[in-house]
Amino acid sequence: MKKILIIKGSPRREGNTNFLADKCKERIEKIGGKTITYTLNEMDIKPCQGCRFCEKVGTCVINDDMAKIYDEILSCDGMIIATPIYWFNMSAQTKLFIDRLYAILLGKGKEAFENIKIGIIMAYAASDPYTSGAVNALRSFQDMWSYLGIEAVDYVYCRAFEKNDVSKDIYTINKVISLGENILK
Ligand SMILES: Cc1cc2nc3c(=O)[nH]c(=O)nc-3n(C[C@H](O)[C@H](O)[C@H](O)COP(=O)(O)O)c2cc1C
Repeated sequence: MKKILIIKGSPRREGNTNFLADKCKERIEKIGGKTITYTLNEMDIKPCQGCRFCEKVGTCVINDDMAKIYDEILSCDGMIIATPIYWFNMSAQTKLFIDRLYAILLGKGKEAFENIKIGIIMAYAASDPYTSGAVNALRSFQDMWSYLGIEAVDYVYCRAFEKNDVSKDIYTINKVISLGENILK
């Protein structure tokens, strides 16, 4: 059974990106995948200290909740990362998580990522991906996956401001459902 990690980068439990991530998760489970969800805002995840001990010892030396996630990343088939756009980029919670992937890169090498498929979900309030800054997050994610040599299955993004806005956006809901199907292929 394929295992997909759902990484939630919004502090709003009933927010738009969580809603979309849950729709994607439901689909993955319905068609036979296993999911594990992490809500970054509710976890103790410290910023990368740039100490590069990971290069020597193979793992991150910071003792916090990333320890739980590292093992799951190393054995997962895919990751869905859902983030709101905050100040023209991904949320700080999401960026902290991404920075900490450095320990896998330095500790185990790019090969540790090679079988992981990626899906990105983003929501923003402004009228389009450019004025909202979603393009900056998109570009950052694209550079990461290209550097790591891994495949991004899809980037799903939409305009949504108040907590329930996206629940009326059938187009985007269908996109995350497809993402759930495609990440298992
Ligand atoms: C601190 C903060 C910064 C934000 N910055 C932006 C921004 O730069 N561009 C934008 O379009 N929306 C911005 N927003 C609006 C959110 O992206 C929008 O409400 C989104 O739906 C939040 O996703 P969520 O419901 O999953 O938390 C910001 C919201 C907050 C709270």
